[in-house]
Amino acid sequence: MTDVRLKPTAKGLSGSITVPGDKSVSHRSIIFGALAKGKTTVRHFLTGEDCLRTIDAFRALGVSIQQDGDTVIIDSAGKDSFTEPTVPIYFGNSGTTARLLLGVFAALPFHITAYGDASLTKRPMDRVVIPLRQMGAKINGREQGKYLPLAIDGQNLSALTYHTPVKSAQVKSALLLAGLLANGETRISEDVKTRDHTEQMLRSFGASIDVTGTTVKVQGGQQLIGTDVYVPGDISSAAFFLVAACLVPGSEIVLTNTGLNDTRTGILDVLQQMGADMEIKEHDIQAAGERIGDITIRYRPLKGTEIGGNIIPRLIDELPILALLATQAEGETIIKDAEELRYKETDRIEAIAATLRSFGAEVESTPDGMRIPGSQSLTGATADSFGDHRIGMMIAIASLIATGETVLTDADSINISYPSFFADLRALQD
Ligand code: S3P
Repeated sequence: MTDVRLKPTAKGLSGSITVPGDKSVSHRSIIFGALAKGKTTVRHFLTGEDCLRTIDAFRALGVSIQQDGDTVIIDSAGKDSFTEPTVPIYFGNSGTTARLLLGVFAALPFHITAYGDASLTKRPMDRVVIPLRQMGAKINGREQGKYLPLAIDGQNLSALTYHTPVKSAQVKSALLLAGLLANGETRISEDVKTRDHTEQMLRSFGASIDVTGTTVKVQGGQQLIGTDVYVPGDISSAAFFLVAACLVPGSEIVLTNTGLNDTRTGILDVLQQMGADMEIKEHDIQAAGERIGDITIRYRPLKGTEIGGNIIPRLIDELPILALLATQAEGETIIKDAEELRYKETDRIEAIAATLRSFGAEVESTPDGMRIPGSQSLTGATADSFGDHRIGMMIAIASLIATGETVLTDADSINISYPSFFADLRALQD
């Protein structure tokens, strides 16, 4: 558990970086590459710990996966070539690995046990276990299979028609994966469209799916074909530097090759709404069905805003860093309809509020969000990441504008999604 000592930044951030590959897309590139027949080459893969857990899981099923830096080559003969794992599968801290792989494991002819770290063990798995059981899955664990560890006895699954009660791309994706491996047509609908990387990538791997509004239909039994994937920069990682540039006077930075999938760009809409000085240059060529481009952002004082409703799934992972930004905007910011934050790597509503308070800021937490007064001054603090990578990075960005020294404890959690975070921050400070 490393402590990192941080000082306020002496001048504005400047320069251009490409943030590491998108976490959601990286996970899916391994899952689809393993299920596909043939060779899949993934470039600009995120080598964060969460995505490495997905690689480990498929290696435990006998799939050949070679990783050299951020290039990963998967050579698979499809799911029929998988072998029964002889060891329990460790999902680490990764909710995406856990939820999506439960959808795959439920349909494989194996007995598999799976477990996670202390944080993941507290996060609900019943949101996928309940609908998977409706498809015929046999999954057992504590409290009727609500929590890891879980034991999965793979079955021939039948198709499912299901409306997800939680706004979660992990749930949608788990059920689409199970549907792909089941008999018949699976239809998943949701109230609000969540990130659609699974749908985009299914197409890149040669499957046909039908998307009408917020309903997705997939026919079971389709064979995926290996392909090449370039993973766009993760907008959820870029978010920390987008906000940093809005906080530190004199900043002007460019974040190249950043993913611009519109189910993920809620943060850009909010920054625009708050008055940010920002330009987005989209590239003509997409990456694995994903929009991609360069974002230039310059410092300018911003105004508080209200963030709620349908935009929430489009910026759910960016709310910690947006909450920090809100403390510096002019006027109050209200975040609502974000109760899902309570089921993340930490209860992020409480973790954000506690962190901002440790910097001397005033924040009111509500059942589904928070109210944050603007124009507050921050004082350097000793602040713990609570083992949550996004809280850790939020503390590091807060230190740039807080007076005095900040000590970030348990900084290692940042490796979960952004191992080169401090190197990239230094590059923008030089
Ligand atoms: C993800 C979906 C979101 C997000 C997570 C990644 C995905 O989780 O917070 O970081 O890759 O599908 P939920 O599905 O729980 O909202």
